[in-house]
Order: sequence, then structure tokens, then C-alpha cells
Amino acid sequence: MRKKLIAGNWKMNKDIHETASFITELKERLKDFGNEVGIVLCPPFTSLVVATAQIKGSPLRLGAQNMSEHDDGAYTGEVSAKMLAALGCEYVILGHSERRQYFKESDQLINAKVKKALATGFTPIVCVGETLEERKAGLTDQIVGTQVKGVLHELSSAEVGKIVIAYEPVWAIGTGVTATPDQANAGHKLIRKTIAKMFSWATAEMVVIQYGGSVNGANAADLFSQPDIDGGLIGGASLKADSFMGIIQAGVEQSASSNR
Ligand code: PGA
Repeated sequence: MRKKLIAGNWKMNKDIHETASFITELKERLKDFGNEVGIVLCPPFTSLVVATAQIKGSPLRLGAQNMSEHDDGAYTGEVSAKMLAALGCEYVILGHSERRQYFKESDQLINAKVKKALATGFTPIVCVGETLEERKAGLTDQIVGTQVKGVLHELSSAEVGKIVIAYEPVWAIGTGVTATPDQANAGHKLIRKTIAKMFSWATAEMVVIQYGGSVNGANAADLFSQPDIDGGLIGGASLKADSFMGIIQAGVEQSASSNR
């Protein structure tokens, strides 16, 4: 069975001081946590040094929000996989819709980053999802299918089995409009089917697929109860210990009920 994974994508929020106080509070609240789900924090680059020191000895894991496809060299403003690994990062979010939209990241570039992340030993959290216009035009399956094929291009089954995919409908990100559990699960099924066609069902069944887009403490349980939803990539609600804990709790309860 796939273990649920809950990741907080802080985006461009929290300086080092805010990072330190958030993690202190979250650790306190996680005292009775039994590792029923995986929890990853993805702060901005500038907070990674503080975060890595603070999560020591806790169940929290660390991720970055982006990285370069290059090893090193003259790429002003970029951060390499090796630099992130040295900081204790184990995860990296790649191809977030904000990177696709504002920084023009293509499936081809994201694919190069995925390969670099895997070669460095990271678990990439690779984002896909359609815009509202695409959904309205009935293009959801085509768009998401093309993105999945693009980002997984030329990977081996073994590599794909190590990847996390986040299905994030762009219209649900930061809008307060969440996909219904049925809509979300349909997206996840499509992603799994696409992976099965490219590789095998055995591989597709291994891939952890998170849902992202306005997840909060109130809707997380319904989303996480869907058979193909293996946790969430959380933006806004990951910025406060209260709301993030609500989502973690929903994941823990869901894992307990599916083990019964
Ligand atoms: P949101 O963001 O939870 O604020 O909608 C999710 C994301 O962008 O990963």
C-alpha cells in the first residue's frame, strides 16, 4: 500500500525567523505522531539552512521548491541539486504551475530537472494540471496526459517508481475552489493510466500521486479517502501550524481507516 505524503509548499513566504518559529510549533504539535504519513516541508531556499537544523530528530523531511537542471557553472541566480543535497533536502518540487506560467518552464525542461533530481538521489514531486480554459474546452485528459508523458520521457520503470506526482488543477491553486473528490480522483486515475501505458500497471501502482489546489483541514479527509489520492501538496494552508496540522490529522485518520 502507498503511504500518504503531505508536503507544504511555502512558495515565497517566511523568512528565517518565521521558519524557525513555525517548525518549533509544528514539532511540538507532532509529539504523538506515529509516522502514519510522510510530512515534507518545502521552504524557500533562504530558509533551508535553518529548517534542516530544526527538523533534526523529528519526522519532518525537507524539500526545495525548484532546482537547476545543470550541475554547476555560470547560471546566475540558480541553485544546483548538489547544493540542495548538502543541505539535507530529500525532495524537490519540479514543474509547479507557477514555474510553468511565470518562468515559462516546459515539459522538456522539467524532464531534464527530474533526471537530475533522480541522479542526485532526490524524490522529485512533479506537478501537472490543466487550466480552467483547458478544462472548459474538454481538454483536461489531453493536457494532463501530454504533461505526464513529457515529464517522464526516457525514464526507467525503476526511476518512475521513485517519483511523486502532484495533480494540481491550475484553477484550484490558491483560489479556494477545490476539485471535488470525484474530479480529483478522475485526474489521478488518468495519470496512473498514462503511466501504466508508458511503463506497466505495477509501476503505475507504485507512484504516489498527491492532489494539490486549495486543500484545507475541512476538505482533506474527503480528498484523501479517494483510492487514487495519496496525500496532498499544500500551499496556503501549510503556512500556519494549525491548518497544516488539520490536514496531517486527516491523512493520519485516513491511513488508520484504510488499515482496518
Ligand atoms: P494552494 O496551493 O494549496 O494554496 O491552493 C497549492 C500549490 O500551489 O501547491
